[in-house]
Amino acid sequence: MITVFGSINMDLIATTTRLPLPGETVAGDTFSTAAGGKGANQALAARRAGSQVRMVGAVGHDGFAEPALALLEAAGTDLSCVARNPISTGTALILVGGDGENMIAVVAGANGTLTETEAADAVAAMQAGDILMLQLEIPAAAVEHALTEARARGVKTVINIAPLTSEAARLGRMADIVIANETEFERLAGQEAMGPDQRRQALRRLYDETGQTLIVTLGAEGVIAIHEGIEHQAKGLKIVPIDTVGAGDTFCGYFAAGLDQGLDFATALRRAAVAGSLACLQPGAQPAIPTADAVASAL
Ligand code: RIB
Repeated sequence: MITVFGSINMDLIATTTRLPLPGETVAGDTFSTAAGGKGANQALAARRAGSQVRMVGAVGHDGFAEPALALLEAAGTDLSCVARNPISTGTALILVGGDGENMIAVVAGANGTLTETEAADAVAAMQAGDILMLQLEIPAAAVEHALTEARARGVKTVINIAPLTSEAARLGRMADIVIANETEFERLAGQEAMGPDQRRQALRRLYDETGQTLIVTLGAEGVIAIHEGIEHQAKGLKIVPIDTVGAGDTFCGYFAAGLDQGLDFATALRRAAVAGSLACLQPGAQPAIPTADAVASAL
């Protein structure tokens, strides 16, 4: 059983031929909305991967609340711990350029109302061996409390230290498993502009210091990791990305589901990397998350 304690957003998405520079206006090509939020995306990915998933979070009292939850609900995610608070639902303003890259500004809304109380409630129902998954789009105090409570119960914690915040390194060190992209990993390691060799050395050094499982996603280059002292590498698929929004979340959700389903570490990593690649082939975060069957075919 996986519990995701995290953000739920409505994504407002414009596509442009190229992303604007600071102060520049560019013409948009299309506009759409889609359910998103790092927490919700990861929950849906884990659910589509075949795990039982409970989402703990909050939406607002507005027209975005129901559409933000619709795909989670359709997939059979447990939403009984999603609060409806008198504030706006979280929103993300997303620009996707012609090369599939993106720029995102997130307004927390209801996600910002989550506190230590919801963290304690989220973990209280969990048992040793369950998986708690966290990101950094909800208040740091709530994330920290969830990590502390989970450790006391023997719950396995997975944190994706995204988006990068000033608390990322500190909170990352409190989890059993850390998933970071290159930039986030540099923050964790306290070292900038790492090349591949330096990254591997930093991975080993951090593992020796903390004993944590560390996973670094590298976009088209796949993923590297260290787990129980053994270094791993996994590749996704060779693709031409259309929209990379939510690809990292898809990786995280599939990876957690792999652990939940008892896959060995290397298999869980590879399946998650392939799922992340497939998520780049369709627009929108949640609509693009592949089903377990699609991932199995691609493997
Ligand atoms: O990781 C992608 C997500 O980041 C989007 O769905 C958006 O909501 C932002 O939170």
